[in-house]
Amino acid sequence: MLGLKLLTDPRWANIAESNLEEILTDHCWCEQKAATNAITIIAYNSEHEDLVTELTDIAIEEMEHFKMVHEIIKKRGYALGRERKDDYVNQLYKFMKKDGSRNDAFIDRLLFAAMIEARSCERFRVLSQNIDDEELKKFYYDLMVSEANHYTIFLKYARKYTEKVDVDKRWSEWLEFEGNLIQSYGTKEHIHG
Ligand SMILES: [Fe+2]
Ligand SMILES: [Fe+2]
Repeated sequence: MLGLKLLTDPRWANIAESNLEEILTDHCWCEQKAATNAITIIAYNSEHEDLVTELTDIAIEEMEHFKMVHEIIKKRGYALGRERKDDYVNQLYKFMKKDGSRNDAFIDRLLFAAMIEARSCERFRVLSQNIDDEELKKFYYDLMVSEANHYTIFLKYARKYTEKVDVDKRWSEWLEFEGNLIQSYGTKEHIHG
């Protein structure tokens, strides 16, 4: 799925479902971080009008997702907890190239974003297929579709704006790295846990 090297063990969905308040809190903050990341890319690369336009839509959509998750939290009588640490994303962040030319860093930031979208999309699929809660099944199915679209957009702009980076080659390095990384996860009630 989306080139991912390792698919999530469906039993992770049972862990998630056993603590919905926790997974929803963690999820809510994932959406905020996705919006923030899109805004950061816009701020550093404002010369690309088409990218600014589409990433503005993504940032808005991510905050709509935030709002939807928050509404579910409120409706169910849960509380939105403090922002949860995302160790998985922090490890990906370390892998991202920050040196080299401005263009090198820009392209790798787009691939970093595409990588998180790809795994989030896969995790949402696992949730939609394996949990019993009817409302959340449907909710996660819809989000899976949305995040798959974001993944496509980030990769599209990496390919469009690269100067020297071989995007296909670098993307396979990302998939390789992520495939090894994700082996240590799948045991916690977090979206990337
Ligand atoms: Fe989202
Ligand atoms: Fe997204």
